[in-house]
Amino acid sequence: MTSHLTVLAASAALLLATVSSAQDNAAGGEIVNPFRGVMQDRSSHSEDEALYVEKCSMCHRRMGMGTVLLARRMAPGEAELEDSRRLTVPYITLVARQGMGNMPRITRAEVSDEQLERIANYLVAARQQ
Ligand code: HEC
Repeated sequence: MTSHLTVLAASAALLLATVSSAQDNAAGGEIVNPFRGVMQDRSSHSEDEALYVEKCSMCHRRMGMGTVLLARRMAPGEAELEDSRRLTVPYITLVARQGMGNMPRITRAEVSDEQLERIANYLVAARQQ
């Protein structure tokens, strides 16, 4: 009986040591990215959407800098441009050409007027789906 208790006490001590060393690791500055291993959705169903994915989605789909920053001041579910109900073609064009806060200006060398118009029309239509 005594030996059973001793084994039990030893196991409990071992368990406590394991738990506290795990906590030490957490306090030791290990940073775990909850999105680790998750890829951004870069799929598209049309040429215009593919253009949006190529030129804008790295910042404006999930985990993008634009989405993260817009989420600070938008209603939940409006932070991704494809979900936003506030966008108009002139507004999208203005923001893209002038930049806004942390968004750099998108030049005609990067995205032509014709491409930007297609992207803007895609975004305005996307919210209605
Ligand atoms: C390098 C990252 C980056 C790229 C590339 C980028 N954006 Fe942005 N965008 C941002 C950030 C960041 C914001 C938020 C600005 C702020 O509030 O500081 C933003 C904001 C916007 C807004 C304002 C949204 C609102 O609800 O008011 C529009 C519209 C927009 N971007 C369109 C575009 C389009 C169209 C493209 C592609 C042609 C594009 N962006 C490419 C980073 C980016």
